[in-house]
Amino acid sequence: MPIQQTLSIIKPDATARNITGQIVAKLEEAGLRVVAQKRVKWKQTEARKFYAVHKDRPFYKDLVKFMTSGPIVLQVLEGNNAVSKNRKVMGATNPEEAAPGTIRAEFAENIERNSVHGSDSAENAGKEIRMCFRKPEIVG
Ligand code: CMP
Repeated sequence: MPIQQTLSIIKPDATARNITGQIVAKLEEAGLRVVAQKRVKWKQTEARKFYAVHKDRPFYKDLVKFMTSGPIVLQVLEGNNAVSKNRKVMGATNPEEAAPGTIRAEFAENIERNSVHGSDSAENAGKEIRMCFRKPEIVG
């Protein structure tokens, strides 16, 4: 199994409820290691750029508004098959469809306020990590 890195975001709905520690515990229990982490508040330009892939989707404007509404925690997670491992522990985008025990099943409020983001492929993980972190900030 390849050692990979993936980007994770703990979203404003979760920072507002002070459950970042509970989310990190789930990630660590799944075998992922936090090798970079910072709490930031995104400007509109940063959220728009990060989610540019969704710019033509009907939810894009609200998504940008939500992701700039409060603090977020950006993380690089490392582990065997980190991309798919993280997606498994996050659960489905829509919490109503998320498997029991997953982060979104336990913590997400709805499809937009769904507590966490995780890269969907190794290629996008590389892009997203480069967008959010400088190399010296990642310490494995
Ligand atoms: P995320 O994994 O961060 O990727 C895009 C985000 O858009 C998604 O999680 C949701 O928070 C948000 N979103 C809002 N509405 C939808 C929708 N109908 N389908 C997919 N994603 C949505």
